[in-house]
Amino acid sequence: MVKAVVLGAAGGIGQPLSLLLKTNPLVTELALYDIVNTPGVAADLSHIATPAKVEGFLPPDDGLKKALKGADVVVIPAGVPRKPGMTRDDLFKINAGIVRDLATGIATTAPKAFVLVISNPVNSTVPIVAEVFKKHGVFDPKRIFGVTTLDVVRSSTFVSEILGDLSLAPSVTVPVVGGHSGVTIIPLLSQSSHPLPSNLSQDKFEALVKRIQFGGDEVVKAKDGAGSATLSMAYAGAEFTAKILRAVKGEKGIVAPTFVNLSADKTSGDALKKEIGKDLEYFSAPVELGPEGVVTIRPLGKLSDYEKKLVEAAIPELETNIEKGVSFIGSSK
Ligand code: NAD
Ligand code: LMR
Repeated sequence: MVKAVVLGAAGGIGQPLSLLLKTNPLVTELALYDIVNTPGVAADLSHIATPAKVEGFLPPDDGLKKALKGADVVVIPAGVPRKPGMTRDDLFKINAGIVRDLATGIATTAPKAFVLVISNPVNSTVPIVAEVFKKHGVFDPKRIFGVTTLDVVRSSTFVSEILGDLSLAPSVTVPVVGGHSGVTIIPLLSQSSHPLPSNLSQDKFEALVKRIQFGGDEVVKAKDGAGSATLSMAYAGAEFTAKILRAVKGEKGIVAPTFVNLSADKTSGDALKKEIGKDLEYFSAPVELGPEGVVTIRPLGKLSDYEKKLVEAAIPELETNIEKGVSFIGSSK
């Protein structure tokens, strides 16, 4: 029996993500929480002929607690999205408080649940969740994840486009490490399962890196004020959740890049800090997942000189983003 909960379930990501979770046969109960519209979304999804029992909750009458009771996995896409001209960090003002309050609900109601954070800025909202859990004495770094899967999905797609064969997209894998914003998104294209064409010019290579790093902006621009990626994010969020659920069921060798606290596994976390040459508290790296969450954080491995520079360039922004999330909870009541 697996209970999955979506917080922000009526939103642009929340609705299609809830749809995809409803179609996951491993989910037996699906609770949808939002400040609006969840009864309708839940009624609609509940007619789909799959095992999950669906229920919608709103804030009145302790709706958040009721939604979270007995949760195994909680996915958080609640919060405002970007408009053209904004950075993810510009969302901090509004989303930090939303994520803090939802994390407080999880810490007090379902402290053992796996928490999958989608709300931006991920580099700061993950530390916010962790700090709230620390305050409540229930912090387990193995169970809190920043969802960076969309960067992995984009890499697969864009690389297969460069290879001239979109049918390869589902099988192309590129580790994407660092964080989830602009220069902190580091695609390790030298480790792509499908090597890039040997005659690809340096200009085209760098344009591909930029496209992966700023893929979010492409969607924000195209939506022209109506929000950011929702459908591709729902797909990515459902893929990552499915990996967590398979690992919980005991499947071995499941690895996915995700933004985690590097104390989740001390030995491999310390080794990664050495590799990047910086004592960062959080980093996105390929993580092996198991029934208790993080099993081990895989090394980045051999990097090209270009990739080493990308890591160097990411560190200052990561450090600032992480510190902003940590001190937000330190300073909030
Ligand atoms: P949206 O505005 O369409 O939906 C957000 C939902 O959150 C709304 O239904 C809203 O009612 C709800 N909400 C607001 N405050 C809430 C609260 N206190 N409790 C519960 N629900 C609340 O936005 P969206 O397009 O779905 O994006 C949501 C977030 O996901 C944004 O912060 C966006 O930047 C982020 N995002 C992250 C990634 C990623 O790769 N991690 C990708 C895309 C979007
Ligand atoms: C994305 O990568 O699409 C998301 O983080 C949303 C955004 O603001 O770009």
